[in-house]
Amino acid sequence: MDFTKVLSSPGLPTRFSEAELLHGYLNSEPAREPIYLSLGETWTEAAPGLTRVLASPLPTHSHGYVVTQYGLPRLQLVLRTYIKRTHDLRGEPGEDFEVAASCAGTRNAMFDFARMLNSPPDHQTAPVALVFSPGWDYASVFASAGYRVQHLPLSPQTSYPSMAHLREALDGLQPAQRAVLVINAQHNPTAINWRADDVRQMIRAALAAGAAILIDDAYFAVHNPDIEPTNALRILLEETAKHPAGTPPWLAVRSLGKQFHCNGWGIGAVTGPPAVIDQLMNTTQFQRSFISAVPLQEAMASWLQDPQSDAYLAAMRQQYADKRIHVARFFVDRLGYPEGTFQTGECTSYLRFQIPRPYWHHPDAAAFFRMECFRRTGVLFGLDPGHLDDMPHAAIQPTFHLRMFIGPPIPVLTDALERLAQAGITFAD
Ligand SMILES: Cc1ncc(COP(=O)(O)O)c(C=O)c1O
Repeated sequence: MDFTKVLSSPGLPTRFSEAELLHGYLNSEPAREPIYLSLGETWTEAAPGLTRVLASPLPTHSHGYVVTQYGLPRLQLVLRTYIKRTHDLRGEPGEDFEVAASCAGTRNAMFDFARMLNSPPDHQTAPVALVFSPGWDYASVFASAGYRVQHLPLSPQTSYPSMAHLREALDGLQPAQRAVLVINAQHNPTAINWRADDVRQMIRAALAAGAAILIDDAYFAVHNPDIEPTNALRILLEETAKHPAGTPPWLAVRSLGKQFHCNGWGIGAVTGPPAVIDQLMNTTQFQRSFISAVPLQEAMASWLQDPQSDAYLAAMRQQYADKRIHVARFFVDRLGYPEGTFQTGECTSYLRFQIPRPYWHHPDAAAFFRMECFRRTGVLFGLDPGHLDDMPHAAIQPTFHLRMFIGPPIPVLTDALERLAQAGITFAD
């Protein structure tokens, strides 16, 4: 992998500290390539069937604007069917919910939703975003849209969300204060599939408190074959159906970048009540952009209609399950990790492990070990996303975990772990 093709050029300003790190490593003319297991990106594993469609001739019109804010009309129709089928939804798209295509990443759709909910901005009382921590970087998205971010801890033992903390936070809202609860049931970084019962309780509690809900289903399709991913969107529709009047706004985003290894395409599905999708796409999104990257949407529409895309997902799920078993064995057999010190999980493209004991006394232990490990082996793991450094208004303690991206093929993961073993990096170190 030629990293210079994807890293910020040296000399250009960047906020990605990893770009600098990798440049520094490469400039030292190392004997071995770096192995990048930090952000969830391989640059090599895009679904072959998808890239084949992109390489085939696409309709001429796809190089132009589309005169709609819901995405390429064909993709929007395909997504309606895809979301209804894969989430096993009872209602009718266009009536009970609507689906649009996001074309610049679901992160942007979340940001638009945050802006939409706080429009016009409430200058008296900042709206609150309730997010579980550690978690993906919802904090930056909402903080930059003017929200106060309140971090709710996950149980340190089970990594499940704590209902008691959520209720306390909802009870603490001031009258008429705007709030949004974020639910990421296939959870990044813990790789835990949140219990359906918990998700239902969370949704009920938010609805009762009048809080908006954002469901992030980025990894809904990325899970071990033997588990049923908790279907937060379906639960939400079941719960909102009980309150036809006065349901707070909600949105479910599903990035397609993770499940097909095509993060650079920016394509995802955004689902919500028809009136919310109307405002989100036709007003909030329109403030910043027209629909773009239409050729990619053409290719994605064809791929989603091809039965091969389901077959690809089935094979990918088995591969992830195999990788989890393989990595767990390596941790135990070769790196001396006792059971309970790593979390193989069952969904997402990650797993989590504790840093070796001797590093625990360092002030920023996980970050310190991560750098040590990179220096000695060329293997770069990830910090829990939304690590304290990046988090405005953080309320939780840093953890002693690193996150390992397991998207690359098994030989790459084996090479990475073998390097740790050879460098004498074990749990007891
Ligand atoms: C949990 C989670 N949500 C959302 C995203 C954003 O995805 P997109 O590429 O659609 O903006 C990511 C990607 O890093 C993610 O891990």
